[in-house]
This record gives sequence, C-alpha cells and structure tokens, in this order.
Amino acid sequence: MFASLIVIILGLCHCIKDSNQTFQGFPQLSGPFEALESDTVKYKCKPPALLTNESILLQLVQRDQILDEKTSVSGETGNFTLKVKPSHEGYLKCVARVRNDSNIEHSVSSAQYLKVFVPVTNATILILPDATEVFEGAMTNLLCSHNDATNVSYKWYLNGQLIPMSPSAKELSRQSTTSKDNGSYVCVATNRFNKKEYRTNSSEVIIRIKVRVSKPDIYFTVIKEDAHNYSAMVTCQSTYGTPYITFSLYNEEKLFANKTGEDRNVTFKVSVILGRNMGWFHCQASNGDRIVHSESLALRVVPVSGHVTVRFDSHLGKNYAVDSVTLFCEAENGTHPRYQWFLNNTLLDNKGRFYSVENQPPEQSLLLLSVGRSSVGTYHCNVSDSFDNTTAIGSKKLYLDEKVWNRLPDALVATVFACFTVLILLVSICCWVGVLFRRRRYGKTSLMGLEMQRTVAAYEGVLDVSQYVEDADEMTPPSGEEFDQASEASLDEWPDISAEKSFHGEPAEFP
Ligand SMILES: *[C@@H]1O[C@H](CO)[C@@H](O)[C@H](O)[C@H]1NC(C)=O
Ligand SMILES: *[C@@H]1O[C@H](CO)[C@@H](O)[C@H](O)[C@H]1NC(C)=O
Ligand SMILES: *[C@@H]1O[C@H](CO)[C@@H](O)[C@H](O)[C@H]1NC(C)=O
Repeated sequence: MFASLIVIILGLCHCIKDSNQTFQGFPQLSGPFEALESDTVKYKCKPPALLTNESILLQLVQRDQILDEKTSVSGETGNFTLKVKPSHEGYLKCVARVRNDSNIEHSVSSAQYLKVFVPVTNATILILPDATEVFEGAMTNLLCSHNDATNVSYKWYLNGQLIPMSPSAKELSRQSTTSKDNGSYVCVATNRFNKKEYRTNSSEVIIRIKVRVSKPDIYFTVIKEDAHNYSAMVTCQSTYGTPYITFSLYNEEKLFANKTGEDRNVTFKVSVILGRNMGWFHCQASNGDRIVHSESLALRVVPVSGHVTVRFDSHLGKNYAVDSVTLFCEAENGTHPRYQWFLNNTLLDNKGRFYSVENQPPEQSLLLLSVGRSSVGTYHCNVSDSFDNTTAIGSKKLYLDEKVWNRLPDALVATVFACFTVLILLVSICCWVGVLFRRRRYGKTSLMGLEMQRTVAAYEGVLDVSQYVEDADEMTPPSGEEFDQASEASLDEWPDISAEKSFHGEPAEFP
C-alpha cells in the first residue's frame, strides 16, 4: 500500500516537471528524396518549440547512426550537410534534444526516405561455368557484373554486332552453343539520373566454341628408304575438329605413337617388310572431349608382280556408231600399283585432248578415249610400285583403229546369233504345225466348223494359233503340256473374238 503511494507521487512529480520542459510538437525534416552518390546534399530541420529557452541539439539520424548534428539556439532551423554514400539509402529522421539535460524526452520527426543513385561502373563479364573454350552444344552463360548500381540497362555485343536482347538482360545464356557463338563479347551497362546517362563498357571476353574432332580416316603410302628398307607413312586425318588435336596410332591394342598438333592430319612412319602382314592399325583422335576411332587398316605391302593385261570396251553413241572406247589395265598382284599409259610409246598425261586417265587403285586403271583420227595408235600400260619405279611391268601392245573398235564384241555377236536361230526355229515349227493341221481338218469338219474357221482366218496371223487349237479340241487331244495350256487360253478368248467379228458384219465366205 505504501509502495504504490510512492509510485503515484513520483509519477505526479514527473508530470509536473514535464509540463514545464517537454517539446511542443515534433521537429520537421526537409530535403531531397533522391541523391547522386558522392554528391553533397542539404537537409533542414526545424526544431519544435520549447518552453524554456535552452539550446536544442538537432541530429540527422539514420538507423541509430548520427549522420550530422547542429545546435539550435532560440528555435532557429538546423542545416545539415550530407556527403551521399550508397549506404545512406533509407529512412532519415531528425531528432531534437535539450542539451545537458537528459531528463527531458527528445522529439523525433517523421521519417523521410532517401534514395541514393549509384552510377554504374566497373562492368565485367563473368563466365559460368568459368571456361572460355566450350564444345559445340555445351551450355554457357555470360553475366554482366558491375558495382551495386540499380536501374541498369544492358547491351551485349558479339564481334562488334549488337545482339538483340531485352535491355534488362543482365545475363546472356546459351543452352546449346554453336559455331555462331564464337567470338569476342562485350557488355555495356547504363543507368540514368536527372537526364544524365552513366555508362560502363566491359573489357572483351573471347569465347571459343570448339568443334569436336570427327571420326578420323586412316590410310598409308609406302616409301623406299634404301635397297632393303621400306616404310609406311600412315596418315590419320579428320575432316573437322578444332585444334589442338591429339592423334594416336594403335597397332592392334598397342599404342604405337601419339602426336598433338594444330593440323587435322598427322603422319606416322612405320617400317614394313614387303609381302608381310604387319597387323591391323587404327587411329584415335581427341581434342579434349570424347575420343573417336578410325576403321582398322591392314598394313600389308605387296609389290607388283605377274601379268599386266590390257583390254578394251567400245561404247555406242547416238547413231549406233562407236564413239568412245575404255581401256582397262590390270596387274595380277600389287597393293600399291602406279599405272602409266602409253600411245605409240609416248607416256600419256592424266588428261589430254581426246583421252583421260582414271586410276582405280589398286585394282585397275582406265583410259577413256573418244575415238577419232588422233586416238589411232598402239597402246600399252606399265605398272610399277608407287614406292619404287624401277619395278615396272609392261603390258602387251594393243593396236586400235576404227576397224578394231568397230568390231562387234563377241558376246553381242553370239547373242544376236542365238536370238536369230531361235526365231528361225519358232517360225519353222509354226509353219510345220500349220501344214499338218490344215491337211487333217479338210477331211473332217462340218460346214459350221468351216464357217467359224473362215471367220477366224480373216484375222490372219494374230489368231492363227487359236484357230488351230479350237479345231484341235474336236479332234485328237493335244499331247504336250504346253499345248494344253494354249488350248485353254484360246477357248476363253474365242467367244469374244467371234462376237466382235459378227458385230462388224463381215460375211463369212466359203472359199
Ligand atoms: C553543457 O555542458 C557542457 C559540458 O558538459 C558545457 O560545456 C556547456 O556549456 C553546457 N551548455 C549549456 C547550454 O549549459
Ligand atoms: C594436312 O593438313 C595440312 C594443314 O591443315 C594440309 O596443308 C595438308 O594438305 C594436309 N595433308 C593431307 C595429306 O591432307
Ligand atoms: C601412232 O602410230 C600410228 C601408226 O602406227 C599412226 O597412225 C598414228 O597417227 C600415231 N599416233 C600418234 C598420236 O602419234
């Protein structure tokens, strides 16, 4: 009871004191709502009235931090200056206090928001994931990073060309890169304050889109090192792929050698023994991603040997005259033959006025001739090892002129003759059968039968067979199977033929 009395008395005393000394109302803060970073701006704070004449301390406060303070004597307005920093963004208040008297409650103005404008600077491109070399099809993202400026617009350039994108695109994202994405990137970031544009360019970033190396081809040529030693120059070659490419040559499963370079082809030297199987070789290629393999190649070098033969084919032109001739040259053995063609013992180039050479190694070489006066002469071919031209083997000589190339090929002659023989045979059989039936029929047929016979005869050759067969039906049964079938077929056709015939109304005449 006593304690509560004391509290009430104390509270009363406090009330009496306050009524003499508290501020009447609140301070009033005024000043800019936005400001450019590092500018100096001014705020004013009008203190509230105080009954006593004590000086008032005015403070510009943000988040319990005093940014500036001024003493105000006899109610004058306090002027604050503020050098704007990005951290000043937020609510500002003015607090009024009575100096040297902490018993008097301070008074606080309403809050005013300050927006700090930061000009954009220090643009740089960040790459995610952090790699300037990317394989085709991989993802890449470029981020235009800068200071903590706000309201920023972006422009992206690839090789100096503006990439059409939304101005708010801070990030340039490629889910699946292609060779078109290759090149130098720059981002430009801008923002504006009071009609002034602030701008920063990033330094360029070069993105290289790498093409995966393609499946390599493998082939080899042979060189003669000296009288007894030969080497195969084995080439591994890819048609595309961004360097550097590592090529590895394997003999069966064993690594023979590795080479890395800027070219899409490399050559390895492997010594070989002529006529011997040196095993299967294959290439592997990689430029950082997956490994690709070539086909396997049997490394075997057989020198040219045996007979070299030359033959020719004639080709008929529009008017059934021979207008071109192909000569073929083949060697019996040899994996690396080199062919040479000669006319009248003069070596022919690969292409001339009336001829061209088409090598189809290792099997053969073709000499395509358009016939005429200049192509008359004696032809032969020489075959040597491509790696050793001291081994040439010559073919027999072949003389060609219009008489030779116009001679019909034996096969054609044989075919024509065979066809002709068959034709003669068929005609003779027909005649013979015809004579036989004609003789028999006149002995036996009725008048009606004869009339029909005559009708059919008007069709002459075309219907000759059915005519005989129809008659044959009445007489002796046919013996052969073939004959039987023909008989049925012609019986089916018979009524139509007769109907058609009578429609035309040609009178049947008795001979
Ligand atoms: C307030 O106190 C300080 C020392 O604490 C003194 O220097 C100053 O003169 C005093 N001001 C008033 C108005 O009493
Ligand atoms: C190998 O590559 C080089 C350079 O790319 C090229 O000049 C050369 O012709 C190629 N060799 C073969 C055999 O293709
Ligand atoms: C080749 O020799 C024949 C005679 O054997 C001759 O008629 C022909 O004109 C010669 N051809 C060439 C191109 O020298």
